[in-house]
Amino acid sequence: MKAPRGTQDLLPGVTEKWKYIENALQELSRNFHYKEIRTPIFEHTELFQRGVGDTTDIVQKEMYTFTDKGNRSITLRPEGTASVARSFVEHKLFGSPNQPTKLFYFGPMFRYERPQQGRMRQFFQYGVEALGSADPAIDAEVISLAINAYRVFGLRSLKLVINSLGDQESRENHRQALIDHFLPVKDELCSDCQARLEQNPLRVLDCKKDRDHPKMKTAPSILDYLTEESAQYFEQVKGYLDEMGISYQVDPNLVRGLDYYNHTAFEIMSDAEGFGAITTLSGGGRYNGLVQELGGPETPGIGFALSMERLLMALEAEGIELPIDERLDCYLVALGEEANRKAAAIVNQLRLAGVQTDQDYQGKKFKAQFKAADRLQAKYVLVLGEDELANQQIAVKNMESGQQETIALDQLIEYMKTRL
Ligand code: HAM
Repeated sequence: MKAPRGTQDLLPGVTEKWKYIENALQELSRNFHYKEIRTPIFEHTELFQRGVGDTTDIVQKEMYTFTDKGNRSITLRPEGTASVARSFVEHKLFGSPNQPTKLFYFGPMFRYERPQQGRMRQFFQYGVEALGSADPAIDAEVISLAINAYRVFGLRSLKLVINSLGDQESRENHRQALIDHFLPVKDELCSDCQARLEQNPLRVLDCKKDRDHPKMKTAPSILDYLTEESAQYFEQVKGYLDEMGISYQVDPNLVRGLDYYNHTAFEIMSDAEGFGAITTLSGGGRYNGLVQELGGPETPGIGFALSMERLLMALEAEGIELPIDERLDCYLVALGEEANRKAAAIVNQLRLAGVQTDQDYQGKKFKAQFKAADRLQAKYVLVLGEDELANQQIAVKNMESGQQETIALDQLIEYMKTRL
């Protein structure tokens, strides 16, 4: 049997890398004063229809939706923002005096997409959401967090692209301009775009199939339709980014694939040579109105998410090795029946004292046990032979220096703890 298409097993050797990245991102979140939230992996389908939006590819084509035994329509979450907003409303987090509510999350997301490198059907996101502030400084904060989520690992070939989708009035003016622009060539667009032109013409700008249509290049830019207030907001966000020394490119065609966005939208791409075909590493933006859409009070919000799969691809493309120490602290080599009997208890004691220890369970001869210790890159090899045992001692060999000492068994834990 094989794992389903678009999913993967993470085996030892890889899980350590994931854990290292998760820990670093958790620390980064803490420094930015975001707290962890964990929401269910499945939700009522309606949450994503209303939150992510009916006209998006995610809702129309990519959701894992099923009817449960209680006849409810359930969906494996395709993203985290809708769930966080739902939870914010359900638990009345808006009532806390500490606003904005700043949250981060890790977890698997599910989208029925055509799998390729960097695009999985189950993928693992890290994301943050800041709810309850419409201060442009928090847009810059989230963007800084997003870019530094790569920089902390030493990644440098990054490109930050930003745009403003404006407020509702800006959007409506732009929408009409898009319809006027594309309507004369409607028949030349793909069937999806023909429908999009009526439902959500902004989506046309994001179409992969019609990307090269000549009318794409001349499409009206949202930036020409921003209300004064929206334009000013965008200027302020850019001002904060300039102050922080974060460079960016403005791309008026950056529209994002989810419906809840307004004002600031951004994506981070890798421009490392040898990176795969999909270069977007992460994306996010402002979603004032989402909380209200889900039955909560009017609450502005902004966030972003990245996937571990693409972060790992970026590390590989830039040839970055994570500093992961896979060496074992101690390996106990036992010689003779009596030593074998005692070995398990000594190993057990060391482990409980916090010393990473292992021993042989395959009936290996003395030499083969040493070889195993070598393969596991043990820092110390402990040798328990008949002589040592008779004197209640054990030989401790430092594998790096080659030095060997004989230690009283009842001193072993103290000795190891001071050495490691
Ligand atoms: P998104 O752009 O749909 O936004 O996804 C964010 C990131 O998740 C992408 O940039 C990409 O790195 C990763 N991703 C998406 N689909 C896949 C896939 N099939 N395989 C591997 N990685 C993938 C959101 O999900 C929003 N919730 C982000 C957000 C948070 N906006 C505001 N707050």
